Amino acid sequence: MPTVTDYIDANRETFREELFEFLRIPSISTSSEHKNDIRDAARFLLDQLESLNMDRTELFETDGNPIVYGELTTGTTRPTVLVYGHYDVQPPDPLELWETAPFEPTVRGGNIYARGASDDKGQSFTHLKALESYLASGESFPVNIKFIFEGEEEIGSPHLVPFIEAHEKLLACDMVLISDTAMFAEDTPSITYGLRGLAYMEVEVEGPNRDLHSGVYGGAVDNPANVLAGIIARLKDEDGVIRIPGFYDDVKDLTDEERKAYRQLPFDETDYKQVLGVDALHGEKGYSTLERATARPTLDVNGLWSGYQGEGAKTVLPSKAGAKISMRLVPEQDPKTIARLFAKQVESLAPDTVTVTVTEHHGGQPAITDLSFYGLQAAADAFEAVYGREPFFTREGGSIPIVADFQRLLGAQSILMGFGLNSDAIHSPNEKFALKDFYRGIRTSARFFEFLPKYS
Ligand code: BES
Ligand code: MN
Ligand code: MN
Repeated sequence: MPTVTDYIDANRETFREELFEFLRIPSISTSSEHKNDIRDAARFLLDQLESLNMDRTELFETDGNPIVYGELTTGTTRPTVLVYGHYDVQPPDPLELWETAPFEPTVRGGNIYARGASDDKGQSFTHLKALESYLASGESFPVNIKFIFEGEEEIGSPHLVPFIEAHEKLLACDMVLISDTAMFAEDTPSITYGLRGLAYMEVEVEGPNRDLHSGVYGGAVDNPANVLAGIIARLKDEDGVIRIPGFYDDVKDLTDEERKAYRQLPFDETDYKQVLGVDALHGEKGYSTLERATARPTLDVNGLWSGYQGEGAKTVLPSKAGAKISMRLVPEQDPKTIARLFAKQVESLAPDTVTVTVTEHHGGQPAITDLSFYGLQAAADAFEAVYGREPFFTREGGSIPIVADFQRLLGAQSILMGFGLNSDAIHSPNEKFALKDFYRGIRTSARFFEFLPKYS
């Protein structure tokens, strides 16, 4: 399809400029002070959709951040693709570690540096530009397309599920297309067919009613920090197995074919360690590094606090200690069930010298796309056409909880067509997205739409 590709190539600069405009909006969903920026980002997408002369475009208000919607119907017998993306981003902290400001996108070494460059503004923008390129080149668009952009993905999508429930007809589709994951490696495209779920917990341990002198009271009063450390230590054994009764009950083991496919991935463990600056890896016995990082459940401390953290040594027996603990889940584990089992186990490990409170933060279901789903074939062809090699089918360790909800509520499988890299530093300082993958992403998206009708 020369004309569509030509249009994409001829408009690289404009596409980059437009993406930069999008990236300049600090649409951080975690703090309320960015409400206006959130609206600006939603508005930006609505303007983009409106400029494409779609059949319908709308900004839906919710009790939280707006949902942006657009649809174009080209033929009732053609497949309908629902493109999902999120316009909210993670906070940029710690700011001092950014080489250039997070909301002033900059190109360095062929990469766009900005918060949201890869997660998910840059990636989701590819599909808008693919549609634009089709329409501008005068080609008739080969499928029916709907867009849905939310602004609360990074805070657990609290208003998207009720929105889908209330708009099942509007969102009816044959599949969901999402670019919010990573390729297996540079120039090594992959289609993600599995995502982990998430249960996120907070544990607070309270002991004496004030911080105590550790010389005067140490030895007589239990120490919440010691207690918390002990509880955490007992949640996992030396083999990396999680010690919560019932935790593994619903875990679906990898199939033999899956394990075989894992072994065929071009993975260099030495390289992996070197990039991360660790001398040795650690994880559940009996599984490879890749299996542990993508298809096995985890339990990890994400935050830990107690006592004196300032300069020098202050002798104090802290009155409180706390931890934030995430568990990444795999099919068919249920976040609610796991949260309950976790709370029960932590409470049972708590001595009566302290009060332990367990609370649950937002979570999400794991998801698997059926490998025989026809849409995956079109996606694979598209990657091959643009990247010059067949994609691998992989599972990833991150979570996009709405994928399971699309399956449950709309009966739609998701095609996870990631153009990012694990080295993009999403959620970290100096987030980046390779410019060439931004452009290849647009082309891959366009080819996907071109190839899809032949498989449906
Ligand atoms: N895009 C990521 C998820 C992701 C990253 C999937 C890399 C696969 C590879 C998404 O924006 C995200 O950060 N999700 C959160 C979960 C959410 C409930 C806050 C996550 O995985 O921590
Ligand atoms: Mn994302
Ligand atoms: Mn994210």
